[in-house]
Amino acid sequence: MNILTFQTQDALNQAGAGIITALLQTNPNARLGLATGGTPVGIYEELVRAYQAGTVSFQNASSFNLDEYIGLERTHEASYYTFMQQHLFSQIDIAPERCHIPNGKADDLDAECLRYEKLLEDSGQIDLQLLGIGHNGHIGFNEPDGTLTRGTHVVQLREQTREANARFFDTPDQVPTQAITMGVGTILKAKMILLVVRGRDKAEIVKQALQGPITTECPASLLQTHPHVVVLLDQEAGSLL
Ligand code: GLP
Repeated sequence: MNILTFQTQDALNQAGAGIITALLQTNPNARLGLATGGTPVGIYEELVRAYQAGTVSFQNASSFNLDEYIGLERTHEASYYTFMQQHLFSQIDIAPERCHIPNGKADDLDAECLRYEKLLEDSGQIDLQLLGIGHNGHIGFNEPDGTLTRGTHVVQLREQTREANARFFDTPDQVPTQAITMGVGTILKAKMILLVVRGRDKAEIVKQALQGPITTECPASLLQTHPHVVVLLDQEAGSLL
């Protein structure tokens, strides 16, 4: 595990975007696993800048998002579909048909999970999986538990997670109670994992995830078993390491 700590958000964003840009420059067909939440926004901004500067093209790349809320229309302002359109897809040259996000409005959610997992399998190994982390150690929407599900599945969101994400909704009660998420097994299949964490409020979970015991009670700790993880931290998030 390669842990890098940055003095400024700009430096962190440039490093994150630089890793993704370098991948696309050597492999224009790269399969990107993408994440939502506040954490990756600055990296997406840098990627858009790199695209506008002509440094990188996403024309032949494909993307697979980690998760999506259940019950929100795609057009809902807080859906992860809308998030990705706003922050990245509408501003780069990626082909819309190669941007994949689970459908949280599917009539048959179990069938949708199977479809998404099969799509991932058939598309080949993800080259780089971008990840943030929840305060309780969740990755994607894999919440801490005694056991974890390997593949894409429906999850019940913890209250703590709903509260943390309420800032993206008009009122807290609008935060869905369920989501579809890639499983930890799905995530760990990626060739490389790029974990990004910012802020003092994540310092304790960063320590647990990277240096604590490997346990399903901290899903991010399972990243310790992956052979190629790069962690980008700001100073606050890395302050307890
Ligand atoms: C959300 C997302 C995760 C994200 C995490 C942290 O619930 N499902 O993919 O990494 O919580 O979010 P943030 O980056 O906003 O702190």
